[in-house]
Amino acid sequence: MKTITVPFGERAYRVTIGCGALESGDWAHFVDRRERCAVIVSQRVLELHGAYIERVLAGLESADLLPMPDGEERKSYAHAERYFNELLSRGYGRGATVIAIGGGVVGDFAGFVAAAYMRGVRFIQVPTTLLAMVDASIGGKVAVNISAGKNIVGAFHQPAAVVADIAFIETLPDEELKNGIAESLKHALIGEPSLCTMLRENDLASIRRPDTLEELVFRSAGFKAGVVSQDEREGGLRAILNFGHTAGHAIESCLEYRGIMHGAAVAAGMQIAIDLSRARGLLDERVAREYRELAARYDLIPRGLALNAAQVVAHMRYDKKNAGGEIRFVLLAGVGEPRINQPVPEGELRAAVDDFLAG
Ligand SMILES: NC(=O)c1ccc[n+]([C@@H]2O[C@H](COP(=O)([O-])OP(=O)(O)OC[C@H]3O[C@@H](n4cnc5c(N)ncnc54)[C@H](O)[C@@H]3O)[C@@H](O)[C@H]2O)c1
Repeated sequence: MKTITVPFGERAYRVTIGCGALESGDWAHFVDRRERCAVIVSQRVLELHGAYIERVLAGLESADLLPMPDGEERKSYAHAERYFNELLSRGYGRGATVIAIGGGVVGDFAGFVAAAYMRGVRFIQVPTTLLAMVDASIGGKVAVNISAGKNIVGAFHQPAAVVADIAFIETLPDEELKNGIAESLKHALIGEPSLCTMLRENDLASIRRPDTLEELVFRSAGFKAGVVSQDEREGGLRAILNFGHTAGHAIESCLEYRGIMHGAAVAAGMQIAIDLSRARGLLDERVAREYRELAARYDLIPRGLALNAAQVVAHMRYDKKNAGGEIRFVLLAGVGEPRINQPVPEGELRAAVDDFLAG
């Protein structure tokens, strides 16, 4: 078992990582047993791991198991309102706790419910996908979608604890595992080079070994914890985490989030950012080659996307992170050397996206 402390002063919290971390119970003391506790759990995870979850929760008499159907469309404001009413009707007060057990969808959703209900109740994250373990559960960003866009309504609400129980990953399909690998590869490139070595020494099969996964989550979540604790509200440094996401989001959004996994879109976005960095003479070919090799090793790059560069660039223009009408990128000057807020003229961008789409 490994632990990371996310140093948010008096709101500091611990991330416990390992096989059986949920059962080890190092989080249960955060639940006020005189008050109610809502366990919002992914329906799929409950189907796969119900016996384990029920055994662990057996000691929490005040817990209500509230299964949540899977799918990004459930991470909605309308759905959250139903949960607010449900908690109120069950007599939940300010001392209540919300526990999220599931991937990033459940974590973001339950975190939003916890942040808004009674102006904020205690929250515990139990991520069950690799992406949620290395990324979504760390840093306190919680949100729901509205009809106008994804993650538009949200809050910063730090959990009291994060429990990354590696045992859950056993049932995670490879396509979902790759979403987490893509984020770990991003962490490797922007500041945790030891992850490059780990990814180089493994493949999609060997990375699933519990001890290897434990180490991967430890390094990757540890890196993210270091970044977010220096910039809780995304005023500066945290922007490095958008590496690969400007073009990645545009690709997902052009495809209306269908037929492409998030990790594949981010991998495409990282490739485009690396090509832009190379074209400006900012980045060495060696790093670009290392990226291509690692992305190929984990089969991350999507091919044959039915898109054209003009469409992708048009979507980037509307990205909420773009200031003053300029499209800005996180570029790379080397491993561990991200450059945030780099304006990229549309012509330069169209050429890089064209090259990528042409394969
Ligand atoms: N808050 C943040 O900082 C942050 C960061 C990145 C992503 N996100 C959000 O995270 C979400 C994506 O998260 P995700 O990739 O975990 O997707 P997800 O929550 O949709 O989970 C992916 C799929 O895996 C299934 N699943 C979960 N755990 C499983 C397990 N152990 N075994 C088998 N199946 C399992 C789920 O039922 C689902 O079908 C998006 O909504 C995104 O906006 C948030």
